[in-house]
Amino acid sequence: MELKTVELTKQYGKKKAVNHMSVTLNAGVYGLLGANGAGKTTLMRLLCALQRPTEGRILLDGKNIEKLGEGYRDLLGYLPQGFGYYPDFRAIDFLRYIAALKGLEGKAGERRAWELLEEVGLSCEARHRIKTFSGGMKQRLGIAQAMLNDPRILILDEPTTGLDPKERVRFRNLISAFSKGRIVILSTHIVSDVEFIAERILVMKSGQIVHYGRPGEITSEIQGQVWECVVPAGHADRYVAELNVSNLRNERDGRTVLRVIAGERPMGNARLVEPNLEDLYLYYFREQPAGGRRARGRGLSEDASGAEECGRDFGSDVESQCEGGDER
Ligand SMILES: Nc1ncnc2c1ncn2[C@@H]1O[C@H](COP(=O)(O)OP(=O)(O)OP(=O)(O)O)[C@@H](O)[C@H]1O
Ligand SMILES: [Mg+2]
Repeated sequence: MELKTVELTKQYGKKKAVNHMSVTLNAGVYGLLGANGAGKTTLMRLLCALQRPTEGRILLDGKNIEKLGEGYRDLLGYLPQGFGYYPDFRAIDFLRYIAALKGLEGKAGERRAWELLEEVGLSCEARHRIKTFSGGMKQRLGIAQAMLNDPRILILDEPTTGLDPKERVRFRNLISAFSKGRIVILSTHIVSDVEFIAERILVMKSGQIVHYGRPGEITSEIQGQVWECVVPAGHADRYVAELNVSNLRNERDGRTVLRVIAGERPMGNARLVEPNLEDLYLYYFREQPAGGRRARGRGLSEDASGAEECGRDFGSDVESQCEGGDER
């Protein structure tokens, strides 16, 4: 299977949200990494045929997806960014509804809905109304609905938003098990997510792919440009304002260790270190100094907080293991 964009362009007024993009995707998990406004959602909507390109085309195995029409849509699963839910639906009813919309009715649809609820860790909440769900639980239900029709092409727009660390691991395992022989594209700002889930990373900036590669290889571009420097803690702010700092660690002895991206040795005691994806992200997307300050610390990756523990051991007979009423 080959999904290919050829000079794909989507223009809103003067703004080219996707700008003459030509990229070829084969089976595998692709991480689409980019800052706000880079064009990730626009690209995904184009790939889902929800929007028409201003210029260029998208080919599946050489055939224009516009000509494939419904046949193409049947192959797709899509989690939109900020997915709209039906608050009064119970989770299982929502999945039954989506299954029916996708033409998956009867026992097969029912079985797949329950399977997916289990896979995203929501089997105990199957009969709870969506309005009672936390943000992360809604997100997991969104991931389940995108996978209902066993799509050959799965497109997930910021699927890990709101997931706690445990759920991120579950998501990662779910995607890697699912991805065999399929194309999975997921967008995120969370560098560590693509680093571990994706086989290929597409770095998107201003509507174009500015970098493409395997997580291990992609950082080679900034090899020799990432440094660790030790400065007195009291002076750290000044260095952060002046340098491109991807991380900052306060030591107990009153010193601060800065991770700096710079073409030349930024200070006498700087030592070269191996670049990681977060450094690369900052290299491409560093904020311009505003009032003399740049992005600092690990603020570019999201540290999830408030991990919730379900702690249940889900077996096959999930319903019988779930306690409590059907409704909240
Ligand atoms: N319907 C629209 N009308 C006009 N401009 C739009 C529209 N949708 C997107 N844009 C513009 O296109 C650019 C790309 O937007 P897009 O939503 O694709 O970015 P993104 O990478 O998904 O950002 P985010 O990380 O914030 O979700 C932005 O400049 C945005 O303002
Ligand atoms: Mg977006």
